[in-house]
Amino acid sequence: MNNTIKKIPLRDLDVFISIIGNAYPAFGIASDQDREKMRQRMVMVSKDPTIAHYGVYRGRKLVGGMRTYDFNMNLFSIETMVGGVGLVAVDLLHKKQKACRDLIMYFIHLYQRKGSSMVALYPFRPDFYRKMGFGYGAKLNLYRIQPEDLPSGGSREHLRYLAPGDRKVIKECSDRFWQKHHGMFKIKKHELDYFFKNPAAKTVVYEDHKRIRGYLSFVFKRADDENMLKNHIVIRELVYENRDVLRELLAFLRVQSDQIPQILFPTQDDMIHFLVKDPRDGSDNIIPMIGHQTNTQGVGVMYRVIDTRKIFRLLANHQFGGQSYRLKLSIHDSFLKDNNGSVVLQFDNGRASTKKGGAYDVEVTLDVSDFSSLLVGSVDYETLYRYGLTDISDAQYVDTVANTFRVKYKPICHTTF
Ligand SMILES: CC(C)(COP(=O)(O)OP(=O)(O)OC[C@H]1O[C@@H](n2cnc3c(N)ncnc32)[C@H](O)[C@@H]1OP(=O)(O)O)[C@@H](O)C(=O)NCCC(=O)NCCS
Repeated sequence: MNNTIKKIPLRDLDVFISIIGNAYPAFGIASDQDREKMRQRMVMVSKDPTIAHYGVYRGRKLVGGMRTYDFNMNLFSIETMVGGVGLVAVDLLHKKQKACRDLIMYFIHLYQRKGSSMVALYPFRPDFYRKMGFGYGAKLNLYRIQPEDLPSGGSREHLRYLAPGDRKVIKECSDRFWQKHHGMFKIKKHELDYFFKNPAAKTVVYEDHKRIRGYLSFVFKRADDENMLKNHIVIRELVYENRDVLRELLAFLRVQSDQIPQILFPTQDDMIHFLVKDPRDGSDNIIPMIGHQTNTQGVGVMYRVIDTRKIFRLLANHQFGGQSYRLKLSIHDSFLKDNNGSVVLQFDNGRASTKKGGAYDVEVTLDVSDFSSLLVGSVDYETLYRYGLTDISDAQYVDTVANTFRVKYKPICHTTF
């Protein structure tokens, strides 16, 4: 029987919630109350016109679903719509019947129709989605910091708790941060709601001349089952517009040392060991031969180019490393046939334009997953070449291609979905 995909009508929401409950047992959707809470949240979230729930049907039966998001991404300072997908879930009884494959295919086509050239997700298993053409973004680090190892910043005079009337100013701060950081997605309404409506979320802001210049949002986490007085701080988001803001927010964290054994900081910034007095993360692990464990790391957000030509047209004003040459880029895309194939790119002093074909200086072949990582700057071309993940018609051009896609900063993403 074929899978068909459509928006999930309200009458099918309960079935979708059951599917989600089984797919994500950690959500703890057990009682009628839990289901009702989830239902209310889904109805609330889908009031945002940029968010939608789609279901996969076999006949009239809903067997799986997903949530899609229109995100506004800062891609090298160019604002572009990127499709996001989350909450992918397939009924336990209907696994391995291509329900997920068809959902993802629908999702990609949906965002092609909306005019996007890229999509993103957080994988339940990175290899599963890499096969579908998604490439790894910048890795996520988990630092465990003892508060007293943070720099003693002195002043905390600009800090206060977030207040109910701060919605506009915190959004403005978040938007300015978005504008300055490659990779960021613009904050959405439900994310803003989180700061104000979630009783567990504590947010401290830095205010200067009636403007919020940064904020630290965190939750507490029991550190010890036997001792309820010991709690860790888990950072949910740290945003700072300049180093003065960072210094004060760190000073705030530092003075929590009497009650807080560790600050857990998930971040794509992998330089935090320079910031703290003792770079070790408290595990005392020695990595052979002699490496003191500073943090653990994981693959998080993944990106996928869904229209190679279009993404270069979007990046027409981007500076591709000042290079001048003709590159034939051959993308291997086994999942999305209309994106499989070659494009000839003309680079003039770093400005790219797409050509129908014709002569070229060098041809580069790679999978769309690794190309997506290369384009956003989470991997460099030399590494792909060294690992044998790309072919090049003339090895003398490895440096040229590497310089074309070199980035100053890897993409960062504060949005989870
Ligand atoms: C993960 C989950 C969604 C998988 O769903 P599923 O419907 O069983 O998966 P599918 O049958 O669609 O499997 C994917 C298919 O796409 C195919 N596929 C992947 N890449 C492909 C490519 N490049 N070209 C062609 N086919 C491809 C795979 O081969 C696979 O088919 P196969 O099993 O015949 O090999 C489901 O197990 C689930 O609900 N898990 C729990 C919740 C969860 O973790 N969700 C993910 C959060 S992001």
